[in-house]
Amino acid sequence: LITNVTLRRVLDSRGNPTVEADVTTESGGFGRAAAPSGASTGEHEAIELPPSEAIANARDLAVPRLEGEVYAGDQRSVDAALHAADGTDNFSEIGANSAVAISMAAAKAGADVLGAPLYQHLGGTFRGDQFPTPLGNVVGGGEHAEEATNIQEFLSAPVGAPSVTEAIFANAEVHAEISEILEGRGVPVNKGDEGAWAPPIGDDEAFEVVAEATDRISDERGFEISFGLDMAAAEMYDAEEGVYEYEGEPDRTTQEQIDYVVEMVEEYDMAYVEDPLDENDFEAFAELTERVGDQTLICGDDLYVTNVERLQEGIDLGSSNSILIKPNQIGTLTDAVDAIELGSKNGIQSVVSHRSGETEDTTIAHLAVGAAAPYIKTGTVAGERTAKLNELIRIEENA
Ligand code: PGA
Ligand code: ZN
Repeated sequence: LITNVTLRRVLDSRGNPTVEADVTTESGGFGRAAAPSGASTGEHEAIELPPSEAIANARDLAVPRLEGEVYAGDQRSVDAALHAADGTDNFSEIGANSAVAISMAAAKAGADVLGAPLYQHLGGTFRGDQFPTPLGNVVGGGEHAEEATNIQEFLSAPVGAPSVTEAIFANAEVHAEISEILEGRGVPVNKGDEGAWAPPIGDDEAFEVVAEATDRISDERGFEISFGLDMAAAEMYDAEEGVYEYEGEPDRTTQEQIDYVVEMVEEYDMAYVEDPLDENDFEAFAELTERVGDQTLICGDDLYVTNVERLQEGIDLGSSNSILIKPNQIGTLTDAVDAIELGSKNGIQSVVSHRSGETEDTTIAHLAVGAAAPYIKTGTVAGERTAKLNELIRIEENA
């Protein structure tokens, strides 16, 4: 039984305050977790409140429904109590940041009571032995860096790696290789929010540089390393004009955007394209998936915001073959796991993901393994990213 929930403000990787929760149980179980925070957030995400407000409201409304009321090991009851305390459908009362911190801390306390690793507690005995392939952000711009690429993220995708550990080191090598290639071209190397290189070059040159680096490391390592994108296209979309805006290039209509993505998938044999179109355009997503869905993953992040109702709409329309899973977009682990399960029943591959603002919390590494997600996107080299990657290395060693 949960006996105590403590909430505090801690720093995230951008230096902003975020919510951290401690959950203690009667039998001495303890869990601690912190909420991440996005910059290119989806319009339909659960609401992140200013941390002080989220903490005050959660103390008033949620903590009394948890302390002495719910077992930490009973995740659905913990998360149902959070929803009941909030009373809205988007956590606008207690804040998705308070909700997700408490939800994740309770899961850790539940695992602690059992003496089981979190991934095992979340996955159970029928978990299987699938490990996620890590997608590593190596070059980027968009909302994550000024004066850099239009496309938000270029992601190294070591799809042929024999283990998670080798994949993680390969991504780090691709990241290092890119800085050498950029140096060779006389391009200054700055970094964006997630530690990816944020060079002042156009998207075309970034494609060349990333392809060169992944090819080279792939040859050295002897396994396939592809790459992919998070276009975060909702950030580029001008709804009034119906066009995607590219700095230093002509705008693209929706049809031109689809054709452009098809062309790039084919030219670079890309393994993954996230949010290539606006977050409300399920139909354009469906056209793109129809055209290249048999050769690449088309992933919905802002499109679905980890929400099962939006995912169901995407399934019905054939909008994508992949979904990004961000627990803080929806507010609880239960909602995130439900989205993963609805996806896997319908052939939709899950990519468990960090946010651009992160902490040293490693819950998503355990969630990806526990829920048998085929991919995880959690950066490449910055400390708050390596926290998750190093946890994956440890999980692989012990699982
Ligand atoms: P965000 O970006 O965390 O800033 O929203 C990450 C993403 O779009 O995947
Ligand atoms: Zn995204």
